[in-house]
Amino acid sequence: MLLAAALTTLTLGAYAPPANAEYGDIVINNYSDEAGMRPPIFPHWFHRIRFRCKICHSDLGFKFKAGGNDINMAKIINGEFCGACHNGEIAWSIENCEVCHSAKPGTPTQVHRSTLQTLIMPLGK
Ligand code: HEC
Ligand code: HEC
Ligand code: HEC
Repeated sequence: MLLAAALTTLTLGAYAPPANAEYGDIVINNYSDEAGMRPPIFPHWFHRIRFRCKICHSDLGFKFKAGGNDINMAKIINGEFCGACHNGEIAWSIENCEVCHSAKPGTPTQVHRSTLQTLIMPLGK
């Protein structure tokens, strides 16, 4: 059990996403800045290819609006919103704070619509 947990942490450390958003990513910052946490980035496409819209927007009750859901860690730990899956069963658990809280401090709530970063970065490499 302990070893498995340690391995999960190691694997996560290796793929923690960088702090710049990709097209369609959603930054949610109703409370994070005030609380001294980097705001979370929700990678929408990453999730959309894995789950039907209905699971999140109907069954889990996510409203179709960036920042339009009153999300906090108490609710997540209680299994609501992100916590319905990020519970160590369907997806890795919430102790991996920085995998979600990965935006630059001060980034306002938004849907990231720029394609420049995603187009330029692979060409430059
Ligand atoms: C894993 C959960 C999940 C799935 C699956 C999902 N969404 Fe979302 N969606 C979210 C979350 C979370 C937000 C942001 C809510 C917030 O900021 O409080 C969002 C926001 C949105 C928005 C508003 C922001 C924007 O991009 O304009 C739209 C529209 C949307 N979703 C459409 C869809 C559609 C269409 C599908 C299926 C193809 C889908 N979503 C699948 C979780 C999901
Ligand atoms: C319907 C289930 C579901 C919900 C709801 C959900 N996630 Fe996820 N999420 C997943 C799964 C499954 C993965 C992939 C886990 C893996 O690779 O082991 C994932 C991966 C991620 C990743 C890593 C993406 C990458 O590039 O590896 C981030 C960041 C993330 N979720 C953030 C969130 C946030 C923030 C919320 C709430 C706004 C949320 N998720 C809600 C299922 C969900
Ligand atoms: C699965 C994604 C995810 C993970 C993992 C996660 N959070 Fe969050 N957290 C969120 C979302 C989404 C919000 C709402 C953001 C907002 O509106 O500012 C949030 C909000 C917060 C807030 C402000 C609201 C509140 O509840 O006080 C704090 C502080 C916070 N998280 C701390 C943490 C810490 C510490 C960890 C690790 C132990 C963590 N988070 C792990 C998604 C996550």
